[in-house]
Amino acid sequence: MNIPTKKLKSGFELPVYGMGLWRYSYLQGIDETEDDQEIAAIQDAINKGITHFDTAEKYGQGHSEEILGKAIKGYDRSKLLIATKVAGENQNYDDLNRSFEASLKRIGTDYIDLYLLHSYPRPGIPIQDTMKALDNLVDQGAIKNIGACNLTPNRFKEAQKYTKNKLVCNQVHYNVQYREIEDKGVLDFCQKEDILLVAWRPVQYGKIKEAKLLTELAEKYNKTPMQVAFNWLISQRNVVTISKTNSIAHIDENLGSIGWSLSDEDIEKIRKEFPDQKLASDAVPLDYEADCKP
Ligand SMILES: NC(=O)c1ccc[n+]([C@@H]2O[C@H](COP(=O)([O-])OP(=O)(O)OC[C@H]3O[C@@H](n4cnc5c(N)ncnc54)[C@H](OP(=O)(O)O)[C@@H]3O)[C@@H](O)[C@H]2O)c1
Repeated sequence: MNIPTKKLKSGFELPVYGMGLWRYSYLQGIDETEDDQEIAAIQDAINKGITHFDTAEKYGQGHSEEILGKAIKGYDRSKLLIATKVAGENQNYDDLNRSFEASLKRIGTDYIDLYLLHSYPRPGIPIQDTMKALDNLVDQGAIKNIGACNLTPNRFKEAQKYTKNKLVCNQVHYNVQYREIEDKGVLDFCQKEDILLVAWRPVQYGKIKEAKLLTELAEKYNKTPMQVAFNWLISQRNVVTISKTNSIAHIDENLGSIGWSLSDEDIEKIRKEFPDQKLASDAVPLDYEADCKP
């Protein structure tokens, strides 16, 4: 399947659906019990046309990157878009370089397509330092594009101020139920400033499929509730998504979210009427308090 992309004026583009490689078990550290299943899922995803894979040095203490490295051996690297992230505590100049080299090694590649700040640098690390390190790696050709995660518009602008390269995306918690980024102006900001918004946790661990509104719309469009939930995200301007699944059946289901669109009325209906909406992420709420400090 040829997955459509969303493209910025700069020419940078991301497929509307990519695969995330974080799993719940990583909260406990390294867990190898699902490795074989995950490698098989990544390879199945590549065979079906998924190209964007999202990992991080923090996921399973780097184990997620190792799994990705094993899975992509033998595939054409130039056809893949690999995104990984540097943790907030590793964002001073030297630490960032060390983190980056370690990620390359674990993935078994000599460049990263999209290198993301996993958060704003931890207090005490000047953002200027972080952005200088990123610019240097872009100059060397080791990073193709830079982006960030979980940033308020103010912090995004602050990071952008100290780099000559465009921050192409903001990766944030967004789905039919979790609406912090609408409430705090992140979606508007990304749409106005030509930034891609990468929605993480798009199906809230699969929990949202029971919602009556989704089942009604699924019936109307002859799709599944999950497909309606994904389609709602990617029908919106500048929004793409990444989801994690080890299940080949779920990869097929999720790819069925692509190639059609909810009507504008139904997009708005979900926006207004989806029950029990949350205006702060339950996992990584945007840091508005810190944002207001000088
Ligand atoms: N930047 C950040 O701070 C940040 C934070 C969190 C996540 N992320 C990224 O975003 C990615 C996606 O987020 P996530 O993994 O937390 O959440 P998610 O994709 O919303 O949920 C993943 C869970 O949903 C299940 N699932 C997927 N498709 C399904 C389907 N069609 N039917 C039923 N269940 C389905 C998966 O189970 P099965 O494996 O059984 O299919 C998995 O347990 C992560 O993997 C990570 O790469 C980034």
